[in-house]
Amino acid sequence: MTGAGLASGTALDPDRNLALELVRATEAAAISAARYVGRGDKNQVDGAAVDAMRPVLGSIGMRGVVVIGEGEKDEAPMLFNGEQVGNGSDPEVDIAVDPVDGTTAAAKGLPDAVAVVGLAERGTMFDPGPCVYMHKLVVPGAAAGSVDPEAPIADILATLARALGKRQEDLTVAVLDRPRHDHLVAEIRRAGAAVRSLLDGDVAGAIAVGQPGSAVDLLVGVGGTPEGVIAACALRCSDGEIFGRLQPRDEGERRAALDFGHDLDRILTTRDLVSGDDVFFGATGVTDGALLHGVRFGENSVVTESLSMRSRSGAVRVIETRHDRSRSNLISH
Ligand code: FBP
Repeated sequence: MTGAGLASGTALDPDRNLALELVRATEAAAISAARYVGRGDKNQVDGAAVDAMRPVLGSIGMRGVVVIGEGEKDEAPMLFNGEQVGNGSDPEVDIAVDPVDGTTAAAKGLPDAVAVVGLAERGTMFDPGPCVYMHKLVVPGAAAGSVDPEAPIADILATLARALGKRQEDLTVAVLDRPRHDHLVAEIRRAGAAVRSLLDGDVAGAIAVGQPGSAVDLLVGVGGTPEGVIAACALRCSDGEIFGRLQPRDEGERRAALDFGHDLDRILTTRDLVSGDDVFFGATGVTDGALLHGVRFGENSVVTESLSMRSRSGAVRVIETRHDRSRSNLISH
């Protein structure tokens, strides 16, 4: 291809929107995972999603390398980091997958579990290396230029309220419900804002911050680094900015991160996490949440709600799909 588009030497039709193809992979993952929603076993949720997503990704015309894959936490046999995915034709891309973000939430029947995939030109996604966790601050686009990510949370909330033209007490802040955030949550409440506690899974909340009319105005706290890169793919395609700082858990991880070449003082921006100009993103709800409706099973159909987004055009599609239970090849029978 020539001109604007994926890396030179690749053969992507400029009019080809890979995000539309990604949605079939996230739909397949969400439908399979949804069979195990509320049944108490997070490994079943994850396994079903991976098994369903992998073949659909394999059928897509691309030469993908999984940069953000199923982590060591999941002991995954598929969609692991470094795995080649796609049918082997151009373009060459980096892939970030999370067949279900919020596996525990899904297993418990709780909100905000989503199936997600991001793509960008080869070599343009941040490699977390040994850094499992990062501190994240996700703000809407309207506040991206004015918020100081290193300021105390009370100052950040004051700036955010001004940027959004809202009162501070009308702000809602998503925070993972973890003991490490007790102090942060107290500070947010002291500033008058409401906290939306995420029992598990911070990707949907982060993406929601970048959507107009979202129920969530800000996401803050320490969560997974891979999930930060995935959220960055979505934010590159929509509105909003993520600021991240790597957060090693102990001295060993700190040394490993430095050896890997990470600067632990650096504030990573959305573009640091995904630097490509052609970013594609797909997400499907597994359970209902701030971002999407979850999978609904009917007598003859299964209904999914998805997002398809592309950075170059800024097109954000909300896709409701009715899958015919007897005919759809995205449903395992
Ligand atoms: P799953 O891989 O079980 O879906 O968990 C994902 C997640 O909740 C992320 O969304 C979040 O960033 C991270 O794990 C938080 O980690 P921890 O649960 O260890 O605090």
